[in-house]
Amino acid sequence: MPDQRTVLITGAASGIGLAAAERMLGEGWRVVIADRAERGPGIAARYVRTDVSDEAAVTALIDGIEKEEGRLDGLVCNAGFMIRKPIAELSLAEWSSVLATNLTSTFLLVKAGEALLRAAKGSVVTIASTRAHQSEPDTESYAASKGGLLALTHALAISLGPDIRVNCVSPGWIDTKGEPLRPQDHTQHPVGRVGRPADTAALIAWLLGRESGFVTGSEFVIDGGMTRKMIYEE
Ligand SMILES: NC(=O)c1ccc[n+]([C@@H]2O[C@H](COP(=O)([O-])OP(=O)(O)OC[C@H]3O[C@@H](n4cnc5c(N)ncnc54)[C@H](O)[C@@H]3O)[C@@H](O)[C@H]2O)c1
Repeated sequence: MPDQRTVLITGAASGIGLAAAERMLGEGWRVVIADRAERGPGIAARYVRTDVSDEAAVTALIDGIEKEEGRLDGLVCNAGFMIRKPIAELSLAEWSSVLATNLTSTFLLVKAGEALLRAAKGSVVTIASTRAHQSEPDTESYAASKGGLLALTHALAISLGPDIRVNCVSPGWIDTKGEPLRPQDHTQHPVGRVGRPADTAALIAWLLGRESGFVTGSEFVIDGGMTRKMIYEE
């Protein structure tokens, strides 16, 4: 097996995944990015244009890693998106597309990558959301996909241990687009600010690394305290 550890991060052409990719490169890992975007982010990672909801594409992706990198120590299942629509207007095709990318892709990736991950005593990190636990209106498909991903995480941890650890990161509001934020966007958070991609990257890096060796099947909420804050309107 080659010496340098390898991590596959999905949806890392931008946002949370990109920050995790940059962090892992900085820690000396080989990084493979799989995203459906036309172009990669232009960092020192191998970019594979992939729709992670497509089984054949996922199989080809993992086969490519076996050939090119020769090992797989980490898998970050991060690709995801939201459709926000009243349920009366949400089509079955739209519902299914959200479930396919946000939930089914993790099943496909772990199924295809199991042998390589076992050989490396690897670590899988799924990226769910605080929306697995709480909701705004008109987000049914997204909330269901993230709740399912949280449950899939602990199911996989039990099935694949002790060789493979599987944990879930549930972010709250992470400013990935650099949008202008109002003072109250920050101050409503118990930590006094909105989250940054580097916050999630640090947690993902720890879960991928050896220091988290006693941790599996767990969820890590990273939300500046928002889901611990009791809110009643005055
Ligand atoms: N930003 C937040 O506040 C926040 C909060 C909670 C959870 N999350 C979750 O974090 C993850 C990353 O979100 P982000 O904010 O960085 O979003 P983002 O839109 O910047 O990144 C998501 C990436 O996933 C890719 N993608 C989407 N569907 C794909 C598919 N089928 N195959 C391959 N690639 C696909 C997109 O092209 C994009 O590059 C998502 O799962 C999201 O649900 C984000």
